[in-house]
Amino acid sequence: MNYPYQIQTFEAYKAQYQKSIENPQDFWRQIAEHFTWQRKWDTVLEWNFKEPKVEWFKGALVNITENCLDRHLDTKANEAAIIWEPNDPKEAHRIITYKELHFRVQQFANVLLNNGVKKGDRVCIYMGMVPELAIATLACARIGAIHSVIFGGFSAQAIADRIQDADARFVVTCDGACRGAKEIALKSVIDEALQSENNVKHVFVLERTKTPVKMQNNRDLWWADEIKKVEQMGNPVVPPVAMGAEDILFILYTSGSTGKPKGVVHTTAGYMVWANYTFVNVFQYQPGQIHFCTADIGWITGHSYIIYGPLSAGATTVMFEGIPTWPDAGRFWDIIHKYKVDIFYTAPTAIRSLMSFGLEPMDSKDLSSLKVLGTVGEPINEEAWHWYDEHIGNKNCPIVDTWWQTETGGAMISNLAGVTPSKPSYATLPLPGIQPCLIDENGKEIHGNGVSGNLCIKYPWPGIIRSTYNDHERCRQTYFSTYEHLYFTGDGCLRDADGMYRITGRVDDVLNVSGHRIGTAEVENAINMHPSVIESAVVGYPHEIKGQGIFAYIILDQEFDNQSSLIQEILKTVSTVIGPIAKPDQLLFVPGLPKTRSGKIMRRILRKIAEGDTNNLGDTSTLLDPSLVDILIEKKKLH
Ligand code: PRX
Repeated sequence: MNYPYQIQTFEAYKAQYQKSIENPQDFWRQIAEHFTWQRKWDTVLEWNFKEPKVEWFKGALVNITENCLDRHLDTKANEAAIIWEPNDPKEAHRIITYKELHFRVQQFANVLLNNGVKKGDRVCIYMGMVPELAIATLACARIGAIHSVIFGGFSAQAIADRIQDADARFVVTCDGACRGAKEIALKSVIDEALQSENNVKHVFVLERTKTPVKMQNNRDLWWADEIKKVEQMGNPVVPPVAMGAEDILFILYTSGSTGKPKGVVHTTAGYMVWANYTFVNVFQYQPGQIHFCTADIGWITGHSYIIYGPLSAGATTVMFEGIPTWPDAGRFWDIIHKYKVDIFYTAPTAIRSLMSFGLEPMDSKDLSSLKVLGTVGEPINEEAWHWYDEHIGNKNCPIVDTWWQTETGGAMISNLAGVTPSKPSYATLPLPGIQPCLIDENGKEIHGNGVSGNLCIKYPWPGIIRSTYNDHERCRQTYFSTYEHLYFTGDGCLRDADGMYRITGRVDDVLNVSGHRIGTAEVENAINMHPSVIESAVVGYPHEIKGQGIFAYIILDQEFDNQSSLIQEILKTVSTVIGPIAKPDQLLFVPGLPKTRSGKIMRRILRKIAEGDTNNLGDTSTLLDPSLVDILIEKKKLH
């Protein structure tokens, strides 16, 4: 497979960009011609950002798995689709060819069909990074069931909320997941989640760790038993179901500035085109190359750049079950060496963490196969960028700094590897089809270069969020109401003298901890569930490895002698309600929180105190009790 729409030169980028802005519909129509459609579209795009309503390729019928699997069978049947590297390097790896993946996806699709899963049903997938996770995801897409993958680090309560919100009817899980030296008992987390009200009919359980599990009669089914039944039926073919272009492909929950995560909705045709187009162009993928994205499939990066982007392009994608630091901090470099990885895509937090181990973990690892490096999820600091360039890329690999979001489906602002210029800590230039603009505090567009503002996008692209599941109004309010006729990203951004974009971080109450999005309100809600907590306020502060750390100010209902055991209890509460990723790095018990007369917490002040930058607190005269500020500063110093 070659990619006629792959941009090869900076000149071509400029020409394509221009075309995509002047005549977007014609631009995307031509790209869409390179996919397999069961029926072509009637219109390329209908939209307004008021409702919002965005419909790409309306009238078309298409199945993304036909594009990810069937269409490669003539030319790539025996090539590797997925290379799976287990958590334990002593265990055998697996190579799944396109032919085998095509077969296994249909097998599991049969399991789903045999157990009553229908088009449009929501299937929650909570698994470790095993090939069956990709298989289950694709099997849903094969029959038109909507997948909602939940990251394996979320707690029972967080899963219960997501199952309820999506009204999921089925769950796919594992007995346990392997992460470094730890085993996580996933099935028992699901059991706990399903104690809350739900309409789940079946839970499919893959055996991975042999962790003991309780199987509930009639509800819980072993993956292997169900596959056996399909084999006994003679493995019937499951044709790729005809999906309307705007039928929902998946829901993925993400945090916002309110306490409740929202189910970002992506639909079929536009997402497919966007995941593929951005994959092929940003990474400049060449047939035969090995692509290794280190994300978990529980996040959008895994959806778009482990599964749908690479597979729709007929690429070989590496799936890694473990963690970068186990059995030692050279694990990523081992994998690159072992499979001669061409493209390596990871998060700045992983780079910073691996930097701290020095150069020894790279000894005797051959990284010379690498051609392209990438980063995603948070701003990359210059030091980490140069280390990545020098020690991993040997100053020989372009680094793509890809800015995007769960809501955007794929990369939005990024250099194209080796084709458009790069600049350390800059996401650089928008992809074709993306019209970024910067908006000032009065909602006016800031023109020209050398300026900063809130980053918005003017025009729809094929991978744009369509809705928030079951609550379209929330989608409108969150993304399309702050500024009229614009999609608001929630990020601050600078455009330098050359028109290059640099993302400066969130401008709302959302934290980015180790590349994971966490809402401050969510963490506060969790902390407040501890019986001794009266109120709390959570802010981010700069953290050397994680990018941002979580700082919690907490008011207790009484004095406690044993604060350290109380701290442990509160951390446990957060782990139970959300998951370990949301645990605060620092807790400070305080007598009060700085509030305005109308009762609003002044987070700006709390952020400054957490950062230790107390010379510049700004105006505190509007506070109900300005003397509190000095008390907090003093407490922080003693902390
Ligand atoms: O603040 C931006 C940051 O991550 C946010 C999106 O988070 P999420 O939906 O979890 O998706 C992460 C993976 C796509 C953005 O609003 N972000 C993402 N990529 C970058 C980034 N910040 C700076 N530079 C990036 N390359």
